[in-house]
Amino acid sequence: MDFTNVIYYVVHSIGGTDLRKRNLMMFAVAVGLTTVIGYQAFQEDGWFTQSPKLAEPPKVTEGVNNGANQQEGKVEGEVPDKSGETETNKGNETTTGGDQTEKNEGKETSKPDKPSDKGSSNSGDSAGISKGEDGVVGVVAEPENVTALVNPFNKLPDDYTPADLVYPDVRFIFSEKIEKRMMRKEAAEALEKLFSGSEEDGIYLAGVSAYRSHATQVKLFDRYVKRDGYEKARTYSALPGTSEHETGLAVDVTSSDGKCAAADCFGDTKESDWLKKNAANYGFIIRYPEGKDKITGYQYEPWHLRYVGTDIAAELAASGETLEEYYDAVPVNK
Ligand code: DAL
Ligand code: ZN
Repeated sequence: MDFTNVIYYVVHSIGGTDLRKRNLMMFAVAVGLTTVIGYQAFQEDGWFTQSPKLAEPPKVTEGVNNGANQQEGKVEGEVPDKSGETETNKGNETTTGGDQTEKNEGKETSKPDKPSDKGSSNSGDSAGISKGEDGVVGVVAEPENVTALVNPFNKLPDDYTPADLVYPDVRFIFSEKIEKRMMRKEAAEALEKLFSGSEEDGIYLAGVSAYRSHATQVKLFDRYVKRDGYEKARTYSALPGTSEHETGLAVDVTSSDGKCAAADCFGDTKESDWLKKNAANYGFIIRYPEGKDKITGYQYEPWHLRYVGTDIAAELAASGETLEEYYDAVPVNK
């Protein structure tokens, strides 16, 4: 039945009633018609259409947010590792393994050699470490040494690939067993202990990005240059060959909800506070501290942990020095 039929029917059915009633009913019919016609018109314009439902976020490790709140494009190591893409991460839902009572007790790491005394794990200038005078970039002589200084003026040998990469048994914000989940064995074991220790204190962390091959760093840096330009990219991403992620000794972490992954807001979290106080007990340093960007070359990265062993980590935690200051290798500013 269309509207014409409706009107015809209504007018006829009220034809016999008195004038007052008829006017009242005609008025009611007019209001009803206006409402129906108006609704149809607005509906055509989409006024009553609900916003399309947002796509479901990809499923990640149980209990771990997918990082949807993270700063777009800022998470490092996003370039996928083709070789690992098809692997699934069995067992990724466990937290850490390891004996929680150990906490590095009795763990001996050899006293690091400073360039000023017995030589160093770097080469490039007379002291073994380049400070970047005249733009000189040295080549790290012992890249496998966990105390090696890798920075904008001390690069890894072109063909360096860490020999003992493993998957640390800790939570990450993604579930795949891919390159960026790996670390050198010693660092991986230390990270497992750090996660266990943090959980004893009610702090739940998640890995964001650990090892990167040289090829991955090339792609990643290139992507940042395209997005932000070379000068800007250099303030937060390392030139290929100079990233600690290529050593397998660095890992970016965040809170287990995945928020603030590789974003400044991580610095305001209780997880970040815990790391500042405790990371050194497990042999890690916050490599790019606040206010030291002129020395390290990078803006504050509260999430970037570098494994250096407990001796150097304890010394730096006590002194507040960066690795550059520790090695007396603060880059020379021109
Ligand atoms: N974001 C640090 C500096 C890196 O790219 O290794
Ligand atoms: Zn990092």
